[in-house]
Amino acid sequence: MYRTHTCNDLRAADEGKTVTLAGWVHTIRLHGSLCFLDLRDRYGITQITLDTEQFPEVKTLRKEFVIQISGTVKKKPTPNVKLATGEIEVVAEKFEVLNTCEILPLDLENIQGTTDDVRLKYRYLDLRRSQMRDNFILRHKAAQAAREYLNSQDFLEIETPLLIRSTPEGARDYLVPSRIHHGAAYSLPQSPQIYKQLLMVSGFDRYYQLARCLRDEDLRADRQPEFTQIDIEMSYVHQDDVFAIGEGLVKNILKKTINYDLKTPWPRITYDEAMAKYGIDKPDIRFELFLHDLTDAVKGSDFAVFNAALESNGSVIGLAVDKEFTRKETDELTAIAKIYKAKGLVTLRVSDTEGTIKLEGSAANHLSTEIQRNIIKELGAKPKSTIFIVADAFKISREAMAYVRKELGQRLHLYDEKEFAFCWVYDFPSFEWNPDEEKWDPAHHIFTSPKLEHLDYLETDPGKVRALCYDMVLNGIELASGSIRINRRDVQSRVMNVIGLTLEDAEQKFGFLLEAFKYGAPPHGGFAIGFDRIVALICGTNDIREVIAYPKNRQGQNPMDDCPSPMDEKALRDIGLKIEKK
Ligand code: AMO
Repeated sequence: MYRTHTCNDLRAADEGKTVTLAGWVHTIRLHGSLCFLDLRDRYGITQITLDTEQFPEVKTLRKEFVIQISGTVKKKPTPNVKLATGEIEVVAEKFEVLNTCEILPLDLENIQGTTDDVRLKYRYLDLRRSQMRDNFILRHKAAQAAREYLNSQDFLEIETPLLIRSTPEGARDYLVPSRIHHGAAYSLPQSPQIYKQLLMVSGFDRYYQLARCLRDEDLRADRQPEFTQIDIEMSYVHQDDVFAIGEGLVKNILKKTINYDLKTPWPRITYDEAMAKYGIDKPDIRFELFLHDLTDAVKGSDFAVFNAALESNGSVIGLAVDKEFTRKETDELTAIAKIYKAKGLVTLRVSDTEGTIKLEGSAANHLSTEIQRNIIKELGAKPKSTIFIVADAFKISREAMAYVRKELGQRLHLYDEKEFAFCWVYDFPSFEWNPDEEKWDPAHHIFTSPKLEHLDYLETDPGKVRALCYDMVLNGIELASGSIRINRRDVQSRVMNVIGLTLEDAEQKFGFLLEAFKYGAPPHGGFAIGFDRIVALICGTNDIREVIAYPKNRQGQNPMDDCPSPMDEKALRDIGLKIEKK
């Protein structure tokens, strides 16, 4: 037997027992003829005492050697309160080195200053750190909690294929060329979307899968080329039924991972309301600092910045904060607005001179008393408040102000970092106007159902059509999205008409789904939660690589196994490919 206990098992009550432990040398300290050693395994740390005269080879031990010791549990005179096993130590009677360890390429106790690529190259060592271990224990619990809840609601866990025909999720597919069918390739799934819908046609009624998804897209902190979704599809449901399952699922995950009691139901915010109040479709509702549309309030001013926006059908969006800012601070906020393509950030201060409330700042000279009053009233600004405004195109003005708001929330500590503020955003537009090609593009995948009461607009005013689709948002981050799907061919073909997709195009791309819909497809809908994202947020990080065992770096490479790697000639010949050098 390698061990009788783990390094987290022993307590004062075990005093006198003879035990065997195995693990890594976490720390080692020589004190006269005694050696004090912290032995570590996945479960914890136990202090071992060895007599160097009895075990002279102890002097050759280094950190991360793998050792086995047998000995007697002894109560410590002064317990170490930082360790669960801190009441005891094990006095070694037998000791064996199971394996040595070279000097580590990274410091397991202090990772700061280690580059991402070194961490990823030696990921198996990085994962030995307690922080990473805890993240993966939490990830495991989250997966179990998801399964537990969904099983309790009659869902069936079903796997769908990895070698598939392309699924339309908007990113690029990874292709796997076929050896048997030269010139043809499988796609790796961006999500199991079509396959889960087909499972509804088959009558499985409630499906889930912890699905691996693969997308060839530019990477960010919250995006990896391969990631995991809790993927869900249900038959005979309306939006409300889907929301209830999403809320129950997340509630159970938070309860079983960190014992957090999440209140449900969550606020539901329409897309229009989110854009108006937060400037973005993933609102951080932890703090009530709202944007206001000042487009009407500033009409008739002689301020060129406002007028340029008004003349080009843009918007003037502002907010007021009850605080004064330094020049340096407003410059930093302006820089943020500019990242999101705003030309600038107008900053005004509300002053109260002898009972007259007015605006100060370079823009104020161009604003009449009446316009100043309009702005102050619309924003509910008080003396000594600061007002920030972006005047620009519709989307830019809102998005830039959304990020200014986000920055203000963070800087002014307007929310509790430990809070989980979930909401649903719904009623998204079905189509987006593409001014370059002068056509309507689908805003979601093409099986997303329009609101039934908007079907008549499909032919008359596609811009008015709202979709039965929704996002689950946590603290300003999109965690999940989903929709009620189109299950009828007539509606599907009307939607395809709007976006200029011919039936032949559609048949070619997903004919098998359209065919399946001929055979009694029940009404259905679902959603998929970014599993890495929710686990990362529960672990208190935005970087999903902290909760993925072997992630890729920002260039899509894995420095550990050095993939992607050059393809060898024979493998290329087998699949009938020739590489053109760039
Ligand atoms: P969507 O494409 O919005 O929807 O994805 C759902 C959720 O998956 C997560 N996600 C990602 N996580 C890490 N890295 C990525 N590259 C990445 N891309 C997406 C996000 C996102 O909210 N089939 C539909 C769902 C449905 O309609 O049922 C889908 O995949 O958290």
